[in-house]
Amino acid sequence: MATVTAPTPEPAPTVAPAARPGWVQRNHFWLRRLHSLTGIVPIGGFLLFHFYENGAILYGQQAYDEMAQGARGVRYLQAIEVLLIFLPLLYHALYGLFIAAYARNNTMSYNYGRNNLFMWQRATGVIALLFILYHVWQFRFTSFWTTSPTTGAVAATISYAPIFLFYIIGVVGVSFHFGNGLWTFLITWGITVGQRSQRISQVITTAISIIVSLVGIGIAVAFVVQAGGLTF
Ligand code: HEM
Ligand code: HEM
Repeated sequence: MATVTAPTPEPAPTVAPAARPGWVQRNHFWLRRLHSLTGIVPIGGFLLFHFYENGAILYGQQAYDEMAQGARGVRYLQAIEVLLIFLPLLYHALYGLFIAAYARNNTMSYNYGRNNLFMWQRATGVIALLFILYHVWQFRFTSFWTTSPTTGAVAATISYAPIFLFYIIGVVGVSFHFGNGLWTFLITWGITVGQRSQRISQVITTAISIIVSLVGIGIAVAFVVQAGGLTF
């Protein structure tokens, strides 16, 4: 009598297990949304408020010094600075650098205007980082650690020609980054969906970039005027 042998089972396929995505990749959606939001609130809001405050220089030395002293008198100032300015900036800058390092810039293969703006958004992020690090170190942590800013001290720093140039680059870089970022923010959050609304918002946000730049340049120039001109 013939014996029936059970078929030998097929060996299990040896497929390498897919690499498990890291925590950042798994939470990219929310981290990206938080990055986008912090660019507008509170950082973008701070930029506008900062220019509004420093714009006091356009009304002269006395107006500026009074504003600066008053601003230092705000209750819980350090807590406000840490929670509403430094922590959001730190997060936005670090995650921004992460995005800039890992996302592809397409300007080589497709030289469309939008791709250039996409590349410039990243480039001005780096400019903003360098400018803010120097600026905050110089003004908040060195010159005005214990005393409030004065027209004379701010003017003496900004009127030195190489620093003035650095300020102009920093101010224009940050203003462009904010205005163009506002344009992409509206798309990220599904506020401008169609081509028409994106074209209209592009005109408005470009105007915002230009106006904020001009205000910042105006403030820097007003300090140079207070100093009696540029020094070399
Ligand atoms: C401190 C250094 C900074 C770095 C390294 C940085 C980096 C970046 C990068 C790489 C992006 C593009 C993200 C993407 O393409 O998806 C971005 C977007 C943005 N940034 Fe910044 N940024 C900085 C500071 C600022 C400042 C000071 C502001 C506001 C004044 C700002 C506001 C924005 C806005 C509104 C967006 C657009 C968000 C969106 O598309 O939804 N950033 N940032
Ligand atoms: C002409 C342009 C600017 C002038 C004259 C200026 C002036 C100042 C001064 C005097 C301080 C020290 C404030 C204090 O100690 O009470 C300060 C702080 C600071 N600035 Fe500016 N700034 C300018 C542009 C910018 C830009 C473009 C940014 C980018 C977002 C920026 C971000 C900051 C931050 C984060 C601080 C530290 C937080 C604070 O003390 O308010 N500034 N700035």
